[in-house]
Amino acid sequence: MNDAYPRYRRALAGERLPAALVDVDAVDANIPRLVEPIRAAGKAVRIATKSVRCPDLIEYLVAKTQAIGLMTYTAQETAMLVERGHRDLVLAYPTLQAADLDAIARANKRATAALVVDCVEHLAAAEAAAKRAGSTIPIVIDIDMSYRPLARGPHLGVRRSPLRSPDAVLALAEKIRAPLRFHGLLGYEAQIAGLGDAVPSSFATNAVKRAIKRRSEPVVRALRRECVQALRARDLAPSIVNGGGTGSVASSAGDESLTEITVGSGFLASGLFDEYKGLTLAPAAGFALQVTRHPAPEIYTCLGGGYVASGAGNGAPRAWLPPGISLLGAEGAGEVQTPIHSKTPLALGDPIFLRHAKAGELAEHFDEYLLVRGERIESRAKTYRGLGYCFLG
Ligand SMILES: Cc1ncc(COP(=O)(O)O)c(C=O)c1O
Repeated sequence: MNDAYPRYRRALAGERLPAALVDVDAVDANIPRLVEPIRAAGKAVRIATKSVRCPDLIEYLVAKTQAIGLMTYTAQETAMLVERGHRDLVLAYPTLQAADLDAIARANKRATAALVVDCVEHLAAAEAAAKRAGSTIPIVIDIDMSYRPLARGPHLGVRRSPLRSPDAVLALAEKIRAPLRFHGLLGYEAQIAGLGDAVPSSFATNAVKRAIKRRSEPVVRALRRECVQALRARDLAPSIVNGGGTGSVASSAGDESLTEITVGSGFLASGLFDEYKGLTLAPAAGFALQVTRHPAPEIYTCLGGGYVASGAGNGAPRAWLPPGISLLGAEGAGEVQTPIHSKTPLALGDPIFLRHAKAGELAEHFDEYLLVRGERIESRAKTYRGLGYCFLG
């Protein structure tokens, strides 16, 4: 929105900077873009909490999208969300720690808190915890959805599950016994959902990425279908089949095997999701820094800013507002200070706005989100960090 800079500037006047803001109008604009294709295909939405990390905002999204539940990222986080009243959760990333599994086993006395696994070791650890707690843990099996066009060729996708065939999935499903129960399948097609294919100035690489997506899509669908068929044939019909992510909403919606699609980052439209063909989202989260120095014409130095994302890609924050600002190649977003280039004249004390590359990680740098509507702060929402949680620290 063209008026975003003056609006945010007015909204944040008098606030301590750096500060993180979420533009709730922009979130509201993103919701139908992500959810409508999923609903139109008759599938449920599941919210990826790792991409939000702010309970009030998670609950806002659940209500607005009528999500079936949450995809969580750690066991202690899952337990906390059950305490807050959530009743349908899938912990998507395995753990072997007894304390974690005990928390999941206890959570299942009040909610359905499914556990994702991919090997017998995961099952054995979960089984022991369920026995200790006297509860039943629903189990979701993770299928490797990566694209491997050649037997000895590249692995295009994430490195998570070793299960790549219906036989392998079925063999593990048949080992699930009380007090565990088979609940469903997870298959995250990262080479489609997590691969930006409209990266500026990368014309040739974008074309290759689009070809990978196009070719892997039918392979992904076939594998999911065959896994579901193999399980059904042994009376192990999955209750849920989860897949997709922000970057694959359109293609995942067309996969008949999926009962639900996970979405997280797209609601806040973090920087990485600017780089997807056919995905137009409104930037909805960012952080404000104060201009503290003016070392040269059109160069302004700000306090803070070095909130760099995990992963192998471009993890630097994206320059946002006022329009036309850019980070300096020589320094990037700094440990303590961040210089920017701006043709718009700025005064010392003025705010500038950057966006994090990843949606959830922004919350690790701030205690609260300022929830902005129009040009005012409508409310404040504590992040996990602000509530004292550090689930992966
Ligand atoms: C298992 C799983 N599902 C879905 C997603 C998609 O999340 P998002 O919509 O935030 O990209 C991810 C992201 O890494 C994931 O690990």
